[in-house]
Amino acid sequence: MIIAIDGPAASGKGTLGKRLADHLGFAHLDTGLLYRAVAAVLMARGTPLTDRDAAALAARTLDVSHLDAPDLRGARMGEAASVISAYQPVRDALLDFQRQFGGQGPGAVLDGRDIGTVVCPDADVKLFITATPEERARRRHLELLRRGEDVAYETILADIRRRDERDMTRATAPLRAADDAVTLDTTDLDADAAFQAALAVVEEKRRKT
Ligand code: CDP
Repeated sequence: MIIAIDGPAASGKGTLGKRLADHLGFAHLDTGLLYRAVAAVLMARGTPLTDRDAAALAARTLDVSHLDAPDLRGARMGEAASVISAYQPVRDALLDFQRQFGGQGPGAVLDGRDIGTVVCPDADVKLFITATPEERARRRHLELLRRGEDVAYETILADIRRRDERDMTRATAPLRAADDAVTLDTTDLDADAAFQAALAVVEEKRRKT
């Protein structure tokens, strides 16, 4: 079974994806980390993010065994990932890995921007997780504070708006809900309530198949 979770920045996809995967005994891939890792390679080398060829090469030769590196989750890396993720050759280079990940048994949860639309269009369950930009900025602010990054709320809100705009308007694999996705607005839901709502969608699907 493949569960595809998409949605805008800091909508809680990662937390939800991990929780669903743990509950169901499935593997979980936060695909944003792949783009963050490509951006990290360029930044470590001092290569400008505008160098498309270097970004494509970094994506083709990416070592996926270090996706749990804590620095990937920082605010700067999210912004940088959003820049290089708009390059088609970067996306193409990461596609096979994501699809193979989705093919493993007994099931996999993948979260990102284009899982239900491009990476796994035949996913058994598609969820589109959203919340207002203000609520997402509030959550990301808390998350970064816990990580020891004290970025102003207004800065985070501006970053989220800019990233949403870039992710939704890019030519390649723009952020959007798949036609057959169930949209979950989590603005007024805490993590537990979001998990229960998502699990209900999954269980419903399992009953029918
Ligand atoms: O955690 P957050 O939602 O802030 O970001 P993320 O999911 O780690 O993604 C970082 C950036 O990578 C996004 O702004 C997207 O531009 C890009 N991304 C993408 O294009 N496609 C994906 N499947 C996942 C992330």
